Amino acid sequence: MWAAAPVLLLLLLLLLLPLARRGAARLEPAGRAVLITGCDSGFGHLLALRLHRLGFTVFAGCLCPSGDGARRLQREAGGAGRLRVLRLDVTRARDVRAAKELVLSHLPERGFWGLVNNAGISTFGETGWLPMETYEKFADVNLLGSIRTTLAFLPLLRKYKGRIVFMSSIIAYFTLGNGIYSMTKAAIEKFCDALRLEMKKFGVQVCIIQPGNYARSTKIQPPLSAEEIWSELSEEEKAVYNKEYIQERANFFNSILSEGSTNGGEVVDAMVDALTSPAPKARYMVAKLKEKALVFVCALFPTVVMDSVLSYALSKVKLA
Ligand SMILES: NC(=O)c1ccc[n+]([C@@H]2O[C@H](COP(=O)([O-])OP(=O)(O)OC[C@H]3O[C@@H](n4cnc5c(N)ncnc54)[C@H](OP(=O)(O)O)[C@@H]3O)[C@@H](O)[C@H]2O)c1
Repeated sequence: MWAAAPVLLLLLLLLLLPLARRGAARLEPAGRAVLITGCDSGFGHLLALRLHRLGFTVFAGCLCPSGDGARRLQREAGGAGRLRVLRLDVTRARDVRAAKELVLSHLPERGFWGLVNNAGISTFGETGWLPMETYEKFADVNLLGSIRTTLAFLPLLRKYKGRIVFMSSIIAYFTLGNGIYSMTKAAIEKFCDALRLEMKKFGVQVCIIQPGNYARSTKIQPPLSAEEIWSELSEEEKAVYNKEYIQERANFFNSILSEGSTNGGEVVDAMVDALTSPAPKARYMVAKLKEKALVFVCALFPTVVMDSVLSYALSKVKLA
């Protein structure tokens, strides 16, 4: 009987947690600043507008501040002073320093509330198809870019007991022909796990958003043609793989992209909750049931089971 007590207590806590989240009052956005990276398009763009509408002071980091996306953002926010577009390439330390200076010189009365590490890039290709420079670029944008920005803003976040939101993906748990993307998301999850525990004592909360496939909601991954992939291969890879195989793999990948949800607002809802809920979750998985089932299999079953499931998915594509 007593042996079951810890399990019963855990179950009770799991049941009470959603009630606690519902009970307390939401955060008052007025007078609080949030910096978001990667606002030229996609989730970052939508979040910047949503937070602005809620009353936050928004610093919208854009890779290209004179580009269409940044201009549209400024226009859609009605040119109000509470939304400021700034140049922020997360791979450039001086952009990050300049962003911090700008934020510091325009802090609203309640200070710096949130950092959203949203900027990211994606591609597709088997491990040997991609050159070392591509791996370096992915590590720099998707992983080091978030770390670089976080380290710069950590003192401010500690001071105001703010929040840090990271964009991961369900792809952190498995990979289907885009290991280069998965590895950066898996690594950022571990960075967040360490940070979340360490920031607790300062009252800073760290949240991870794990979207499923929303490829049709954003610009993250346009469909790739077999010709594009083939033309990037080294001569050594071309000697191993043939064009039919590349075509099959491109078809497979593009068919996954075409199944992507068009309702990016669901992901933005989770980002907003992470920033405004009195009791934000450590992880928000925003995905279809079958995507969650795949994550479940990958997380809980032995690797041999996960490999069988993923190999089955890839089995239609044979190296002739
Ligand atoms: N869409 C999905 O299905 C999905 C699923 C899981 C996770 N995510 C994650 O969600 C986040 C947002 O992506 P999204 O889907 O909204 O795609 P997106 O529309 O491509 O947005 C990504 C943004 O990051 C910007 N960016 C690229 N390199 C940058 C750099 N060096 N510094 C600063 N900004 C940079 C891009 O600018 P340009 O437009 O100028 O290139 C773009 O505005 C990413 O971290 C992505 O991995 C997306």
